[in-house]
Amino acid sequence: MLHGRKILLIVSGSVAAFKALMLIRLLRAEGARVRAVLTAGGARFATKESLAAITGEPVSDDLWAAENEIGHIRLARWADAVVVAPTSASRLAQMAQGLAGDLAGCILLATRAPVLAAPAMNPAMWAHPATVANAALLRSRGIRFVGPGEGPMAEPESGPGRLSEPEEMLAAIRALFAEGPLKGRHVLVTAGPTQEPIDPVRYISNRSSGKQGHAIATALAALGARVTLVTGPVALPAPPGVEVKRIETAREMLAACEAALPADAAIFNAAVADWRVAHEAGQKLKKEPGAGAPTIEMTLNPDILAAISKHASRPRLVVGFAAETERVIEHARSKLARKGCDWIVANDVSGDVFGGGENTVHLVSATGVEDWPRMAKEEVGERLAARVAEFFA
Ligand code: CTP
Repeated sequence: MLHGRKILLIVSGSVAAFKALMLIRLLRAEGARVRAVLTAGGARFATKESLAAITGEPVSDDLWAAENEIGHIRLARWADAVVVAPTSASRLAQMAQGLAGDLAGCILLATRAPVLAAPAMNPAMWAHPATVANAALLRSRGIRFVGPGEGPMAEPESGPGRLSEPEEMLAAIRALFAEGPLKGRHVLVTAGPTQEPIDPVRYISNRSSGKQGHAIATALAALGARVTLVTGPVALPAPPGVEVKRIETAREMLAACEAALPADAAIFNAAVADWRVAHEAGQKLKKEPGAGAPTIEMTLNPDILAAISKHASRPRLVVGFAAETERVIEHARSKLARKGCDWIVANDVSGDVFGGGENTVHLVSATGVEDWPRMAKEEVGERLAARVAEFFA
């Protein structure tokens, strides 16, 4: 898919810059041409010589020297895609502001090619409201993101901020070029359970595995859609080329969904906990000798599907799921009306759907009901993605 594609790779300042070198190898192994642009910060972690050796192309690091050689406009035009990996906090802020004080900044303003950012920074810096706002602004302008992931960092700290692995970045670059009927469409998908804390060590949750939602996200991306997957805690890897937002509670899921808008379509497959604990204990609840079991007061969680269905930037197509054990169609119809969505995928959960590999569903819309045979969750994902593509055709 990347054969003959021209990738302009901007390497900004992060200790993770070594992964950019690994990414170049993967890109070239797929037949892509790669030219590297090194920022002043990037030059602290990767050398011009190593980038030149691995890309097999000249490396640009100076706006004025580049003007003499090829020029920032020509470099920007040359690229079929611009990848900023790693994207430091500072580079992200410069991109959000449209600053053009160096070669990378000029290219990022001048290019008409898709731009992918792979952030890498300390978790506190990634969580800072300034960075959150910068990333949201860039997303709203169509900049694509891969990561950051969680895992061991250079500093002994944890949380999201780690540069995605080279293979993940490669998948995200492939997704930039994905052709298909949903190319140019953004689809939001929710998946998995939510976890509602009781105290710092206990929570209320359910048995959703996230398999169906992940399969839907995978199938939509395969048809060329840009997919944002908001998922509760699951033991599944991120689908290739899909932007994954990991959350725990229903309220976090709602916030992540709202932040992902605008979207052309939204598919709500998550098994959201209907209730959360009204007063989450700040410390672990202790057994007091002689005292009985505690009473836990619950309160209603927001209904994410209903909220997005009446959101000011409502996606054109909103799809909900309904888990039913009896009178499946009847319940699905009333849910369609109550939640204000366009389709309900009614799920017959009287069998072993939770955690299992198969699903029996009925697609219920205002115009009718389609009964789908029992099939693998992957196939349900593919059929649903195909129906979404038909809707937009
Ligand atoms: N949903 C949601 N936010 C919630 C609850 C549910 O977005 N707080 C979404 C689910 O993702 C799913 C649909 O709403 O798309 C399911 O609706 P729900 O009212 O939870 O119905 P069921 O779980 O099917 O069951 P019941 O009607 O018996 O509660």
